[in-house]
Parts: sequence; C-alpha cells; structure tokens
Amino acid sequence: MKLFIDTANVKEISEVKEWGVLSGVTTNPSLIAREGGVEFEDVIKQITDLVPGPISAEVISTEAEGMVEEARKLASISDNVVIKIPMTPEGLKAVNILSSEGIKTNVTLVFSANQALLAARAGATYVSPFIGRLDDIGHTGMELVRDIAQVFKIHNIETEIIAASIRHPLHVLEAAKAGADIATIPYAVFKKMVQHPKTDEGIEKFLADWNKR
Ligand code: E4P
Repeated sequence: MKLFIDTANVKEISEVKEWGVLSGVTTNPSLIAREGGVEFEDVIKQITDLVPGPISAEVISTEAEGMVEEARKLASISDNVVIKIPMTPEGLKAVNILSSEGIKTNVTLVFSANQALLAARAGATYVSPFIGRLDDIGHTGMELVRDIAQVFKIHNIETEIIAASIRHPLHVLEAAKAGADIATIPYAVFKKMVQHPKTDEGIEKFLADWNKR
C-alpha cells in the first residue's frame, strides 16, 4: 500500500517527504482554507514542484460543466495533478468527460461500494472511501474498503482505492490489510506511526550504556 499525505501544508509535506515514504498528496477545500489566505493554484503548484507523485486538487463547482472547466485549469498546472470530484451524478458526468481527455480523477466522498463501482465505471483513476466519517456515525468504515477491494478484484477494475478520512495509525494498518492501494494520512497520524515508546526507551538505554564505557 502506498502512502499519501492528506494536507495542503507545504512544511508538513516537505518533512514527511524527507522520510522517503511519500507517494502523493491529497488536498480538499477545507485543508486549503486551513492554510489561510493562500491562492489555491499557487499552493497546488508548490506541492506539485515538491512531490513528483499524484497531487489531488478538488473542484468547487457542483455542475459537471463547471467541474470540467475547473479541472482543465487545475490539470494545466502540472502533469501530476489529479482532479478530485465529488461523488454525485454531475460528478460522474464530469469524470467521464475528463477521463476521455486523459485527465486523471479522484472521486471523493465515497460512502458505499456501489458509489465506488459507479465512479470506476465512469472512468475514475482513484476512489476515496471516507473511513473516519463512517466510524463517526456508528459504521465500521473499514468494511467499505474491504467491500470495494473485493468488488474491484472480482471484476478486474483498475481504479485504485485511496483509504481517506484516516484518524489514527490503526486505520492505516487496517486499510493495508483490507486491500486499499493507498492510504492518505494526516501529518499528525504520520508522526504517531513513526513513534513507539520502546524505541525511545531502547535508544536511551543504548546511549546510556555507550556513555558508560
Ligand atoms: C480525502 O482525500 C480527504 O481529504 C480527507 O481524507 C478527509 O478527511 P476528514 O474526514 O478527516 O476531513
């Protein structure tokens, strides 16, 4: 399973990129807004210059025509821009048009396996099931990843599954076991994944012993 970072913060992206573990980045309108008064296209450009993998940038329009127009503009920023499109009938229309133009898409806000199947058949490059938000309303979000992975495998569907709305390290592990191709992980979760108290304790002990020589 590949690891993406779910942020629009260039500092966070640079830090995790230096670990050598990053295959891509996802952003969304809330994450862009969190960065303050930044220019959307400028941030996307900065991120595409930093990370060579797929960089998801989301459209704001709710009608297919507007989505396609925004998508073409965003796609012209760099070859590695992927257009994030919400899972609606208008979104599917837009995905279909964009896929015929060779523009990659990530269908977002996926909450059922049927939505994922529709997105894949419309030509989506990626689908993003939202794990944490399903957990929030009393479902087991990871079941959705398992279902989509099973359906895509049986029917030889090449659309990749991005486990999104990841809230903690266990989500990442479970997504890997459930068959997600990618997990898009917030910076805070990356920091938790790297840490273990026994690792810290071990380093402290090795150094203490070394200094006793
Ligand atoms: C996915 O691409 C989204 O940006 C993201 O994972 C949403 O997560 P949230 O539910 O924590 O907002």
